[in-house]
Amino acid sequence: MTATVVLGLAWGDEGKGRVCDALASDVGYVSRYSGGNNAGHTVRVGEEEFALHLVPSGIVREGVVCTIGNGVVVNPEVLAEEVRALEERGLEVRDRLLVDGRAHLVMPYHIALDSHREIALGSARIGTTNRGIGPTYEDKVARYGIRVQDIFDEGILRTKLKAALREKNSIFENVYGEEPYDVSDLAAWLLSFRDFIEPMVADTGTILREALENRQRVLLEGGQATLLDNDHGTYPFVTSSNPTVGGAIVGSGIPPRSIEYVIGVTKAYTTRVGDGPMPTELFDEIAETIRQVGGEYGTTTGRARRVGWLDLPAIKWAASLNGITHLALTLLDVLSAVEEIKICVGYEIDGRRVEGYPMHQTDLHHARPVYKTLPGWGEDITGCRMRVDLPTAAQDFVGFVETEVGAPLCMISVGPERDQAIIERIGT
Ligand code: IMP
Repeated sequence: MTATVVLGLAWGDEGKGRVCDALASDVGYVSRYSGGNNAGHTVRVGEEEFALHLVPSGIVREGVVCTIGNGVVVNPEVLAEEVRALEERGLEVRDRLLVDGRAHLVMPYHIALDSHREIALGSARIGTTNRGIGPTYEDKVARYGIRVQDIFDEGILRTKLKAALREKNSIFENVYGEEPYDVSDLAAWLLSFRDFIEPMVADTGTILREALENRQRVLLEGGQATLLDNDHGTYPFVTSSNPTVGGAIVGSGIPPRSIEYVIGVTKAYTTRVGDGPMPTELFDEIAETIRQVGGEYGTTTGRARRVGWLDLPAIKWAASLNGITHLALTLLDVLSAVEEIKICVGYEIDGRRVEGYPMHQTDLHHARPVYKTLPGWGEDITGCRMRVDLPTAAQDFVGFVETEVGAPLCMISVGPERDQAIIERIGT
């Protein structure tokens, strides 16, 4: 069988968890491949709302095996707490959640470094989630990282902690005037998770490849999104991993040829948390209306999200970069609250009209959106289950986006409930 990747086309929070949940009724495995608990996926089932940070959203579907891939960075404390909270709500988690032994661990010193660095950057800050994600990936690349498997060999764990702290402790003491971290304390902290995590540790890449060979469907769930990708995003205002389709392959351990579908998810408008360029950002009452109606506050940090119109050059570029086969459009119902809808169809950069998405970061900072204006529909669409049920103006909006992006829509969400969606068939 084949794998499907679900990834965000903009700056995150597109509703990937929701799309994964809709697709997970039909799959055997759901796997996270990048990021850590900087992510926040919300899945609503009936009256219940599940806010997930590390555990893949497939966990709310009975019988689906969920894997946290080698490309994810895992804060063991957060994982333990999330699993406990889900189990308290009656979900069976530990018998179908697997964590790759190669995944790197987010340590307390990573979180401290993240927050010190942001303070030191002042107005040039990235606006990170302060979850230690960047410093953990830095250590991974620098080969100072502590991996899940290290918890099971105390000798190796201590040696690695010593190496990881050699330079960091002098930074904590001499730059930030803080107490150094103690190897024994950190080792004891990590070892306290050993019994909890041991039954879940696995070679998840091998498991996914075997599942694919056994004709099971696998869904790969991205954290963050394309414009936050460390290579392709609005650097340095990005995360430290690769949420794009290449990251899905590296971070889950499956071969490229097993990927059949790539579903790019975008909201019907744009949001961003943290700093960095966002050409279509709005600062008026329309932004406030969308923020309120769409509940645009971070699942992880509670920060108010920046809000703007849909940025088609960015979305089209992200769609092409990831080779999307399908598009999923979320939160269409939120636009019922505005009279007139704008879509950015190009930019004006220093007096020049530019159609595509600029490579140069300075251009993006200077880009002023060129808008196409469409009439709003101003009515409740939460009951629509087929495209033809939508008001004509909404159909026109959806059709315009689909044609411009050049990929068929497979899902349009029209409300927060699981069934409030227009689902269109993928493949045969
Ligand atoms: P970090 O991933 O915490 O290092 O943050 C880097 C940038 O990515 C910041 O602008 C964050 O706000 C943003 N970011 C990280 N995770 C998410 C997410 O799940 N949704 C939206 N933005 C995110």
